[in-house]
Amino acid sequence: MNILLTGGTGYIGSHTAVFLLESGHTVVLFDNLSNSRCDVVDRLESITNETIPFVKGDIRDTSLLSKTIQAHKIDAVIHFAGLKAVGESVDNPLEYFDNNVGGTISLVRAMQENQVKTVVFSSSATVYGEPKYLPIDENHSTSATNPYGKTKLFIEEMLQDVVAADSTFSVVCLRYFNPVGAHDSGLIGECANGIPNNLIPLISEVAAGKRPKVYVFGDDYPTPDGTGVRDYIHVLDLAAGHIAAINFLANEKGWHAINLGTGRGSSVLEMINQFALSSCRSIPYELVNRRSGDVASCYASAEKAEKLLKWKATRDLKSMCASAWKWQESLK
Ligand code: UD1
Repeated sequence: MNILLTGGTGYIGSHTAVFLLESGHTVVLFDNLSNSRCDVVDRLESITNETIPFVKGDIRDTSLLSKTIQAHKIDAVIHFAGLKAVGESVDNPLEYFDNNVGGTISLVRAMQENQVKTVVFSSSATVYGEPKYLPIDENHSTSATNPYGKTKLFIEEMLQDVVAADSTFSVVCLRYFNPVGAHDSGLIGECANGIPNNLIPLISEVAAGKRPKVYVFGDDYPTPDGTGVRDYIHVLDLAAGHIAAINFLANEKGWHAINLGTGRGSSVLEMINQFALSSCRSIPYELVNRRSGDVASCYASAEKAEKLLKWKATRDLKSMCASAWKWQESLK
């Protein structure tokens, strides 16, 4: 299939592009480079040995999307493009609604104009809000506590309405847990613009000596060691989940929400310890107060993905930390 990847040069988009090409699909990367660099395309070409079409553009530009869909005879879309920093979304809510929700409306219009009716959407476990039970399955109630989370939820619901209005449209919303790690080549990985928000990029920078220590937000949670527990998933497992979703939609219509997680929770201290082992570096840390808005534990039930997509995460924490460290080392 010919697949359009919005946000195709970003962290998850770029890793998924490798897997799609390796599975025999053709990809077109569409990205405004707001949180990625165009040399990602060269790096992807050297990993895959293929020429990869890239369009620099904004998903709010419906006409450019439409032209791209026509020029490359696109069959399906994987929609990664979107802003994703929680704190920034609280400060600039309209930017988030405009980019994420407005951008998706523009994308769906361009798809409809060209009779493209298959889309896999990058959603997030953030749509579950405060976990009411664990592991979190897809029947868990949804809610959002910040503008970023609201955009993910609105887009999911909007896509559900699009499917209700046109039964030939098919959608999988993949609810990511905590993606970490990088491609084994060390050529692509997570590019944090400025100060990273997420735990693993911060730990990596401390291991590399770019920051003095990791501040561990809270050691009094009701978890085995008192620190927050999350479901960290290797970005390559996540990438494989997208191929499984595209294959699933080849035979299925309708709207589906599916978790991509490992089903296993790990604490902040566990991650710091594993990263120290993988990098052979000491990682100083300091226990500080909880970060507001954080929950104690959040991990997925991965059963629906296994049943419907025939997909399961296979990579362990060691592989996640080792690949994240290889990527960090390449940034020297
Ligand atoms: C964050 C976002 C969430 C998003 C997810 C995946 C917030 C409040 N939530 O969730 O909306 O879907 O990333 O991108 O930003 N931690 C520290 N020290 C740090 C950084 C993190 O101890 O410097 C801890 C956190 O308290 C948490 C764990 O590490 O227990 C993971 O944090 P993070 O990587 O920010 O992910 P989430 O909190 O799951």
